[in-house]
Amino acid sequence: MKGEVFLRLRGICKSFGSHQVLRGVDLDVYRGETLAILGGSGGGKSVLMKHMIGLLQPDEGTVTLEGKLLSGSNERELAWARRKISIMFQNGALFDSMSVRENIAFPLRESGLKDEQEIGHRVREALEIVKLAGQEEMMPADLSGGMRKRVALARAVVEKPCCVLYDEPHAGLDPVTGDAIDQLIKGLEQEHGITNVVVTHEMRSVLRIATRIIFMRDGMIAWEGDVEELRNTKDPLLRNFIEGRAQDSDL
Ligand SMILES: Nc1ncnc2c1ncn2[C@@H]1O[C@H](COP(=O)(O)OP(=O)(O)O)[C@@H](O)[C@H]1O
Ligand SMILES: [Mg+2]
Repeated sequence: MKGEVFLRLRGICKSFGSHQVLRGVDLDVYRGETLAILGGSGGGKSVLMKHMIGLLQPDEGTVTLEGKLLSGSNERELAWARRKISIMFQNGALFDSMSVRENIAFPLRESGLKDEQEIGHRVREALEIVKLAGQEEMMPADLSGGMRKRVALARAVVEKPCCVLYDEPHAGLDPVTGDAIDQLIKGLEQEHGITNVVVTHEMRSVLRIATRIIFMRDGMIAWEGDVEELRNTKDPLLRNFIEGRAQDSDL
C-alpha cells in the first residue's frame, strides 16, 4: 500500500541547450519507501534527482515537498528542503585533506552548528549508523572504497534527513561491499523510517531493497511497479535491462 506523498513531481521538463533531457516526468515519492530509479546511462536519472532537492530548477513543471512548492523557490525554502533531503552523490567525493570526523561534520558546520560537543555526538551517531564506530581520526586515503562510501553515507545522514537520495551508490564496489551498502540503505528505511530514492544499475540490489521501481526512457517514466512485477515483466527493453544485456543505445 502506498502511503503519504512526500515528494511530488509534475510535468518536469529540462533541457540543456537544444538537448531535451526530461520530457514531462510525473512522479510521486511516498514517505517511507525505497524507490529505485532505473534507466540507460545519460537518460537523465541524475538530472531528475537534482530536481528533487532543488539543485536544478525545471524549465517546466513543479516539485512539491510535503505539499510545499519547491520549484523556483528562494534560498531559505531550499535550505528547508535540504534539511529534509540529503543526497549521496555519484562517487561520494570526500575531502581528502579532512579526517573522517571533519568530513562528516562538514554539513553541520555549514548549517551553523558550533557546539563542539554536539558535533562530536552527531558524528559518532552517524558513524554508528554506517557501522564505522570509532573511525573519526582516519583520513580518506586510508580507507577502502567501501569505507569511503560509508563515510559519504554518514555525511548524508548526519543532519537527520527524512529522505536520502543515492546516485549510483554501488559504482566501483565489489559485490560483497555493495551488499553491505544495501543493508545500510535498507536499515535506514526499516530502522530509521527514512525514505530512500536510489539510482542504480545493480539489479541484484534493486530486487533486494526496492519497494517500488521506476524505469526511465526518453526522458519520461516508461514503467512503474514492484519487485514482483519487475521480475514478471514482458517488456523487452526492461527484460534486457534486468538480464544485463542492455545496450545504452537501446534505451
Ligand atoms: N549541467 C549540465 N549541463 C549540460 N548538460 C547536462 C548537465 N547535466 C546533465 N547533462 C546532460 O543531461 C543528460 C542526462 O544526464 P544524467 O542525468 O547525468 O544521466 P544519467 O541517467 O546517466 O544519470 C546527459 O546527456 C548529460 O550530458
Ligand atoms: Mg547519473
